[in-house]
Amino acid sequence: MKKLVFTKEAFVTGEHALDYLKEIQTKRAVIVTGGNSMFRTGVIDRVKGLLEEGGAEVTVYSGISKNPTTAQVKDGVKFFKEKKPDTVVAVGGGSPLDAAKVMTLFYDFPELDFSNVLKTDISSLKLKTKFVAVPSTSGTASEVTHVGVITYEEEEYKFAIRSEAIRPDVAILDPEIPSTMTSQIAAETGMDALTHALEAYINKTGNDFTYALAKEAAEGLMEWLPLSVKTGSRESREKVHNFSCMAGMAFSNSGLGMVHGVSHAFGGKYNLAHGLANAIILPYSMDYNKKDETVREKYGKLSHALGGDVIEKVKELQKELGIASCMKEAGITEETYRADFDFLLENSMKGSTLANPIPVPTEDMKKFLDCIYYGKKVVF
Ligand SMILES: [Fe+2]
Repeated sequence: MKKLVFTKEAFVTGEHALDYLKEIQTKRAVIVTGGNSMFRTGVIDRVKGLLEEGGAEVTVYSGISKNPTTAQVKDGVKFFKEKKPDTVVAVGGGSPLDAAKVMTLFYDFPELDFSNVLKTDISSLKLKTKFVAVPSTSGTASEVTHVGVITYEEEEYKFAIRSEAIRPDVAILDPEIPSTMTSQIAAETGMDALTHALEAYINKTGNDFTYALAKEAAEGLMEWLPLSVKTGSRESREKVHNFSCMAGMAFSNSGLGMVHGVSHAFGGKYNLAHGLANAIILPYSMDYNKKDETVREKYGKLSHALGGDVIEKVKELQKELGIASCMKEAGITEETYRADFDFLLENSMKGSTLANPIPVPTEDMKKFLDCIYYGKKVVF
């Protein structure tokens, strides 16, 4: 038996999707967001206005950074305890959405904190507080996943907290909102989405439904991402927003792979944007995973649909979007990389690397890290 879940209550998409906020029964809502962009583009005012129209008292908690930390989450929980929301509305990129999920979890279950959450069975917890996700970027698909990724500052590592408790009750995909992304954010987050699609498609714990979503998302993202980055047209942004979400529906019900394992190691150590780290690692992982027959067959199907070798197409896309081709090019000095190598290796073996379609031995990972750092071809 396999149960698939996308959201717990509603999944709202299409023109004026944001208006759904008026239908949410809430007395006290807190909006959680990142830096300035959602204020500057007027999105926060609109969200606040719509919630207030429904009669809610609304406050805003802002300032979540690109790799949210435990300190930020703890501060947010304090704010929640003061304001006592019955509804949390997370607005913005994956970072505020992820941070808000963990804040809500700790607010509803005060016995949980960062010292015990990864060791506690939180799989069957149910939140009292309603959680609404309004994504502004098209990458993490946090609006339909049961995952919240937080950087543990002391460990310099990004941990993924996973529980059905933090899967949003409501996801709102309003096509107006991703139009506000800069082209750099569109490129990096879009490559995160493509990584989700490609990792979910080859993950061995998926099924017909997740594979269909992942394949459609991969093809759609390959087609629409260049336009979304270069033109920012409303149609292309909407397409990428939807395909990104489909990739999230797929991976949160199947799993990811080594790109996310390695990416969390580099992201936690160097504060690299998640999408950028994934974009760099993705083509190397494809060269590594193609040694598996089932993976090769799936890449063959994608190549057929795309009219050319999918791995080459991903490399071309990476170049076209102006993304660094290796970690060295992304600005990590060789001295730093060599000094941190053992740390990076240890952390790269954790997390989603354990869900890779083929097991990755430590010796292979050592070579793999050198490939993604120096830009060497994966031939082992
Ligand atoms: Fe991701």
